[in-house]
Amino acid sequence: MSKILKLTPRRNFLFGLGSLAAISAVAISRSFNNNQEKKALDNPERDFTVSQKLSLKQRAAQKGLIYGTASTKSYLASDPAYMAAIVENCSMFVPEWEFKWTAGDAMLRPGVDQFDFTAADWIANFAATHKLLLRGHTLVWHESLPQWFKETVNSENAQQLLQKHIQTVVKRYAGKIHSWDVVNEAIEPKDGRDDGLRITPWLESLGTNYIDLAFRLTAEADPKALLFYNDYGLDYDTPKHEAKRTAVLKLLERLKSNGTPIHGLGIQAHLSPGKNKFNPEKLRQFLQDVASLGLKIMITEMDVADQELPRDIELRDRIIAGAYEDYLSVVLEESAVIAVITWGLSDRYSWLSEFQPRSDKAAVRPLPFDAQMRRKLVWNAIARAFDNAQRR
Ligand code: XIL
Repeated sequence: MSKILKLTPRRNFLFGLGSLAAISAVAISRSFNNNQEKKALDNPERDFTVSQKLSLKQRAAQKGLIYGTASTKSYLASDPAYMAAIVENCSMFVPEWEFKWTAGDAMLRPGVDQFDFTAADWIANFAATHKLLLRGHTLVWHESLPQWFKETVNSENAQQLLQKHIQTVVKRYAGKIHSWDVVNEAIEPKDGRDDGLRITPWLESLGTNYIDLAFRLTAEADPKALLFYNDYGLDYDTPKHEAKRTAVLKLLERLKSNGTPIHGLGIQAHLSPGKNKFNPEKLRQFLQDVASLGLKIMITEMDVADQELPRDIELRDRIIAGAYEDYLSVVLEESAVIAVITWGLSDRYSWLSEFQPRSDKAAVRPLPFDAQMRRKLVWNAIARAFDNAQRR
């Protein structure tokens, strides 16, 4: 029977001090170990030099690949230097907001019977003017749905609403779209379904066939566009990512065996080094499994969250660049991979500033150019990955 410690005020104070010291010792050792781990991610001798004065799109094109980025009308229209950097470095463009039902300052779908194509047309014209291949992102997603959607949609009207949306939007840009992310992020093993499907308004109102239906409607509306399923959390050697890779593969196999008109898988590649273990073999095997279904693969939204990384910019940039090059060197070994898109070109406009800000309030540094539009080691890492890739 353990002796119950009777705490007097003085002893209480000393006990308090003691436990405070113990807690802070644990915290210090944890953060020290944490920093040790973080430093282990870094190799100060790592070589990021690049040869030749070629842009990223030129290096990609030399190997039969595509490099692109995402942005929005409001960023591009107000920042000519940013627009020029995108045109110089990219051969593909994907709107971050304008082809969604609603996102940012764009409202494609103001009402159940209303479409406002002003922003989406601006994007399509920008891409055509600068001869950028244009991605459509995204027709069916559980996010970026206007308020009226949740108040209106039910199992009686959902199919007609989906049909009207896809036929109206896809037909308007038919022939101008390289590829559509027809369905985005439909897999969530945490939702507990045997098929791994995320429980969304689309699933609840239309049932499991909503995915096949969306692809068939899109193929009918634009037979020229490549049709992709797009998702995240497929990158690392963790139980969560393994479960997601398994469920995504099951979905793709099911769609292919149904004869669904699907051409590829979009892997978002929102990376987070330091938080998750990168296992090249696991990723390589997944890419091979997807390719064995006859599907193309695009890296569709690549960036690196640096929340867990050291504040020091030189160290942090090296770790982030290393994560890009390690990941892309594996990905580009797979010949089914046709494109790499970063979710933004400059830290000035990364969504991670809001979505995954650093606790020390330091500016995030996830992309090839910094907020002052200076090239970073990430730029070198992507350039080196293209330079070392096999020609398609
Ligand atoms: C994000 C945009 O970058 C944000 O500006 C917006 O507020 C929310 O959506 N996966 C996706 C993208 O498929 O559409 C998301 O884009 C980022 C995560």
